[in-house]
Amino acid sequence: MLVVKSVLFDDYNNIMPDILLLNGPNLNMLGAREPEHYGAQTLDDIVDNLKIIANKSAINIEHHQDNSEVGLIECIHNSSKDGTKYIIINPAAFTHTSVALRDALLAVDIPFTEIHLSNVYKREDFRSKSYFSDIAQGVISGFGAQGYEFALNAAIKHIQQSKR
Ligand code: DQA
Repeated sequence: MLVVKSVLFDDYNNIMPDILLLNGPNLNMLGAREPEHYGAQTLDDIVDNLKIIANKSAINIEHHQDNSEVGLIECIHNSSKDGTKYIIINPAAFTHTSVALRDALLAVDIPFTEIHLSNVYKREDFRSKSYFSDIAQGVISGFGAQGYEFALNAAIKHIQQSKR
């Protein structure tokens, strides 16, 4: 029985993600963090909903939230080895600062959507600068948690169209 369990576990770990969903620093605090900007839903609420939607289209989605640049960069590097077809990323504060994260996305050359819960153009000036928008397939900003659904639907469509 133990052996069976371990085989199943290994199989599960070997599933190739179609979509990598990445969330940057402080997004683990969603629900409690500045709800006037980021809404009341927790990150788990958002991710659980996306997994249900992806599942309906037989698409699997892997999620990783990291408060460090290193963790996000390593996750992006790994995506080039495991067959990931699309990346959805909310780089959070790194949006406005991180050349290293930008370079990681350029290095793996996987199409991606940049997403923000809040409308970054309506806020402080420094949030209008993004190191990702000009290399993203698209940008979604200001639709709260619903924006993740928009990004996921676009990613699913992209994957389905590239299969044809
Ligand atoms: C954010 C906007 C960023 O400016 C901010 O630093 C975040 C979240 C958003 O989802 O609206 O942490 O990316």
